[in-house]
Formats: sequence, structure tokens, C-alpha cells
Amino acid sequence: MQLDILTVCYLIGSVTFILGLKMLSNPATARKGNLIAAGGMGIAIFGTIFLYQTDNGKGLHNYVWIFSGLIIGSIIGTLAAKKVKMTSMPEMVSLFNGMGGACAALISAVEFDHVYREFRLDTNSFADSVPFVHYFTISAGAIIGGISFAGSIIAWGKLNGRIKDFSFNGQHILNLLVLGFVLSIAGFTYWSHASITNIWFLITLLSAFVYGVLFVLPIGGADMPVVISLLNSFTGIAAAFGGFLYNNKVMLTGGILVGAAGTLLTMLMCKAMNRSLMNVLIGSFGTKNAKATVGKQQGGNYKEITINDTATCMAYANKVMIVPGYGLAVAQAQHVCHELEKILDEKGVQVSYAIHPVAGRMPGHMNVLLAEADVSYDKLLEMEQANDEFKTTDVVLILGANDVVNPAAKSDAASPIYGMPILEVELAKSVIVNKRSMKPGYAGIENDLFFQPKTSMLFGDAKKVLQQLVSEIKNL
Ligand code: TAP
Repeated sequence: MQLDILTVCYLIGSVTFILGLKMLSNPATARKGNLIAAGGMGIAIFGTIFLYQTDNGKGLHNYVWIFSGLIIGSIIGTLAAKKVKMTSMPEMVSLFNGMGGACAALISAVEFDHVYREFRLDTNSFADSVPFVHYFTISAGAIIGGISFAGSIIAWGKLNGRIKDFSFNGQHILNLLVLGFVLSIAGFTYWSHASITNIWFLITLLSAFVYGVLFVLPIGGADMPVVISLLNSFTGIAAAFGGFLYNNKVMLTGGILVGAAGTLLTMLMCKAMNRSLMNVLIGSFGTKNAKATVGKQQGGNYKEITINDTATCMAYANKVMIVPGYGLAVAQAQHVCHELEKILDEKGVQVSYAIHPVAGRMPGHMNVLLAEADVSYDKLLEMEQANDEFKTTDVVLILGANDVVNPAAKSDAASPIYGMPILEVELAKSVIVNKRSMKPGYAGIENDLFFQPKTSMLFGDAKKVLQQLVSEIKNL
């Protein structure tokens, strides 16, 4: 009877994960979806703690350890989530993902130890008594979890600037050799003499950490969100192996869902940048090397526009499109941006937002940012829709976006962003770009758009500029 209730808890957990994922795909339901999935996870966790029984009828007993971990983890997680700035979200996701990978690796290590203690005195090697599938599940969880842990920590360090990009000639070959070493040692462990199997397993785990570090180190900073998403899928797969080990259905379902969602997100991000995953992993995009090989450096003259002229242009336009980018998030100017939209609306100007799928630094960054300021979802246009609208737009106001409006993606085959679909803002009648300087965006390349005749630069921090713009338009 008790076990049946636990199965129902797991079923509820699995269904809420799927519901939650579905709801996360729409900004209007994302918050609720997150809560529903977290509720399901809570039911699965507490169900396991109080109802789980082994085959010989034993339940969990070490409650002090379990609840100490739960309480400490919950406090740290809550504080970190409340304190984190939106722009630092990818690094927090990376850190939390690393913890997931570490958990999966630890589960495998504990299960290995369990099997090792049981068989080491009776047999010559693991292969004599432990079925290969069981050993495979243990070592796959350890290797994938270990890579995910070490890689995520490096990604976290890179995103917050503690670890610099690091690459050298032949690094990818070295990486392949290390991966080959990890897999060979894992195989060797199974057939090695039972008394020293634990040492070989430890070497497997440590070399998986080394591979995780080497795998992420050479990848360019701009590609970190893609890598984090990939590592996230690794953690999901490693957790699914943990589910196999303990025959825990909710862990298996959760792991598979995380693995699949991470893989799909990775593919979608690569598609939005028009790059293959291989190119992301070995392309060194966004590193110093890439910056040195950028396509043509246009430079030239650009013209500036004043707040006053910008206000006049926008207030007397029929249709305005706002293009938000990373700089809007840095300036935390989303609320005043919404205020600008409302004032223009009152003046009869049709205002919408053009959302590029990889604007900002994480998937859905601009959607989340604008949702925070209560911008209506029907004002947000996806890239294809926006590109159709630019032809009939009077003024495009670019707020802290750069790479996602760079025409080099279409015209300069030597550019590192060549082929990435962009917002074709130059189709509009006039373009006003707000940023603080002529510095490049995250890809580290110059933007031709700023030098085009129909473009005007409005320099300054996005929040300050928008505040001035709002008061100027109010006075018109
Ligand atoms: P970026 O190309 O990074 O440009 C942001 C611009 O904002 C900078 O040029 C900067 O210029 C300006 N800025 C910074 N702080 C500002 C402030 N306080 N006020 C006004 N402007 C400010 O941004 P984007 O166009 O959003 O493109 C995103 C980049 O990240 C792309 O290269 C994309 O491929 C990459 N990426 C994104 C993702 C996801 S999932 N979003 C994933 C992987 C890669 P100044 O310094 O001159 O002000």
C-alpha cells in the first residue's frame, strides 16, 4: 500500500514536470509552470523520504543528514535566487547545473562503492560478478555527471570573469585524447583485479573532471549559454542513469526531460545563430582569436542625434519598433522603456518590440526582462514577424542591442557571425541606436549599421536616455 502511494507521488511528479515544461514555453504561464513543477518535485522528494522501502522492507532512516542537506540547500538556493541580477542569471544556472552534475556523479560513486564492497573479496574482477549493464550505468553516470560538474564550474567562472578564455594549438586533439583515456580507463576498471577496481574508478572520475575543464576552457565567451545548455542536457542524462541505478521512476523521467529539453534548446540556439554545434564547440567564437580574424573593419563616419530630435522623431511617427538587447538588461531600463511605449501609445503611435531569439545573454532574456516591466505579450514580435514589419516602420529605436542587428551577418562572409539570422532594421525609414560608445557587442566585431546614412547614434546609458526621452516627449 505504501509503495503504491509512492508510485502515485512519482506519477504526480512526472506529470507536473511535463506540464511545467509546457507552461515554461510561454511567458504568460512560465511562472506558474515553474511553481507547478517545483510542487511536483517536492511531492516526489518527500514521498521518497517517508515512503521509500528497499526490497527487504527497510525505509530511509538517516533523517538528520537528509534534512540538514535539504535545509542548508534550500536556504542557499533561496538567497542566491533572490539576490541574483538578471544579467548574472546564466552564471547562476551554470553553477546550479554543476551541482546537479556533481550529485549524479556522487550517486554513481556511492553505488560503485556499494557494489565494490559487496564483491571485492569474492571475485577476481567486477566482470566476474557485476552485470555489464549495471557497471555501464554506474560509470556513465559518473563520467557524464563529472564532465557536467567540472565544465559547468569553468563556464560559471568564465561568465563572471574569474576564468579567462584559454586555448592553444592542438587543444582539440588533446581533448579527444583525454576523452579516449576516460573511456578506456572506464572499460579497464570493469576487467581490472577486484582489489584495485576502486582506484581505477577514482581515476576514471578524476579524468572525467579534467576532460570537463579542458572541454569548456577553449570555448568562446559568447558561446557560453549554448555550452551551459549542452551541459544541462548532460546533467539530465547523468541523472537519468541515477534513476536506472535506483529504479527510481521520477528521477528517470526528470533526467530524460532535462536531457531532452537541454538538447533541444542547444539545437535551437545553434539554429538561431546559424551555426553547427561542432562550430560552437571548436569555433572559438567570441574569443580573442576570433576577434583577431573578424571580417572587414568598416569604421568611417557616424552621425549623432540629440534627445530632443529623437523625441520629435518618435512622437510624430506612425509606427515605432523598439529593439531591446543586452544593454537594456545591463541598464535595467525595462520599466522606463515600458513608460516610453505607453506615452507614445497615448500619442497614437503604434509601438511594438522586435525580439531576436539570442538577444541578451540567455534564452528568452528579452521576454523575461520586458515581462518584468508588464509589457503586454502581444506587443512582442518574433524575428520573422518583425522583419516583415520593418518595411512599414518609421523609426526603429535600438536599445543596447548590437550583434543581433549587425548586417555583416548577411553581407560579410568573413565575419564570425556570417549566416546568423538578424533583425533587418535597416529596412525601416530611420534607425536610432542607443548605446554608450562605439564599442562592439559580445561577438567583438564592428557594426556597419552604425555608419549607414539612415542610422543616428544616441549615446548614453539606456536608462538615463530613456528617462530624458520620456520627459521630453511629455513636454511636446
Ligand atoms: P550585444 O551584441 O552583446 O551588444 C550589447 C550592446 O549593449 C553593446 O554593444 C554595449 O555597447 C551596449 N550596452 C551595454 N551596456 C549598456 C547600457 N547601460 N546602456 C546602453 N547600452 C549598453 O547584445 P545583443 O545584440 O543583445 O546580442 C547578444 C549576443 O550574445 C549575440 O552575439 C549572441 O549570439 C550572443 N549569445 C546570446 C545567447 C542568448 S541565448 N541570448 C546565447 C549565446 C550567445 P556600449 O558598451 O557601447 O554601451
